[in-house]
Amino acid sequence: MEQQVVIITGAGSGIGRETAKLLATKDKALVLVDFDERSGQDTLNAVKEHQQQAIFVQADVSKSQDVKKYVDAAKEAFGRIDAFINNAGILSPPSLLGDLDEETFDRVISVNLKGAFLGLKYVLKEMEQRQSGVIVNTASAAGIQGQPHMGGYSASKHGVIGLTKTAAIEYGPSGVRVNAICPGGVITNMTKGFESSPEENGPLRRLANPTEIANVIAFLISEESSYVNGAVVTIDGGLTS
Ligand SMILES: NC(=O)c1ccc[n+]([C@@H]2O[C@H](COP(=O)([O-])OP(=O)(O)OC[C@H]3O[C@@H](n4cnc5c(N)ncnc54)[C@H](O)[C@@H]3O)[C@@H](O)[C@H]2O)c1
Repeated sequence: MEQQVVIITGAGSGIGRETAKLLATKDKALVLVDFDERSGQDTLNAVKEHQQQAIFVQADVSKSQDVKKYVDAAKEAFGRIDAFINNAGILSPPSLLGDLDEETFDRVISVNLKGAFLGLKYVLKEMEQRQSGVIVNTASAAGIQGQPHMGGYSASKHGVIGLTKTAAIEYGPSGVRVNAICPGGVITNMTKGFESSPEENGPLRRLANPTEIANVIAFLISEESSYVNGAVVTIDGGLTS
């Protein structure tokens, strides 16, 4: 089988980095995208232990020009895009909706929702042309239930699920599968400093390790999940059950 070419956004840290490291051991060609140059380069160095077919592209997913840049870089380096892990995201400081300032709301929507949209916009076109491809959008448990003090974030992730379902319906006939994952709490830079009791972490009484998310992403971009499309896959230890 031809080597799968995979773009991962938010590859500089957490879920994106662990997914990159896992996919490097599965012989994927990798296009690593992150806003943060240094952490992106660090991930590139880590994956190069297993996989020479890898590049890093510095890009802000909320900017159309930058999204075009990483799509073009993928095509130039490897000729096509087989899988897209639309994962970059940010959290905003906790706040009640009434106290949430407009700029903070705009920023979280811009990165988490518009960024996911722009990635889909440009990558879907490529995949449609080739009548093949698979996409995983990183939503969140906050995308399927409300989360107090995280109104902007929760709205952005509900939006990601809306985009996922729409894309799955629109592009399924073109041979492209699109699914969303909804992690609960994961031990990454994003959750550093957040205190939570075992009960708050759900029935398994712990946060997830990022490799537990990466394993599901690897499954969703593989042929083993060939009939999974438009799914909203919770990876939350039963938190939202
Ligand atoms: N950690 C959790 O508990 C958790 C739970 C559910 C969903 N998620 C989602 O998982 C995804 C990854 O989060 P993580 O926990 O690995 O966080 P993280 O902070 O460890 O990693 C996120 C990466 O995205 C990059 N990034 C941020 N804004 C960007 C932009 N505009 N353009 C390009 N790159 C940008 C950051 O530089 C960072 O490297 C996010 O979409 C997040 O919302 C995380």
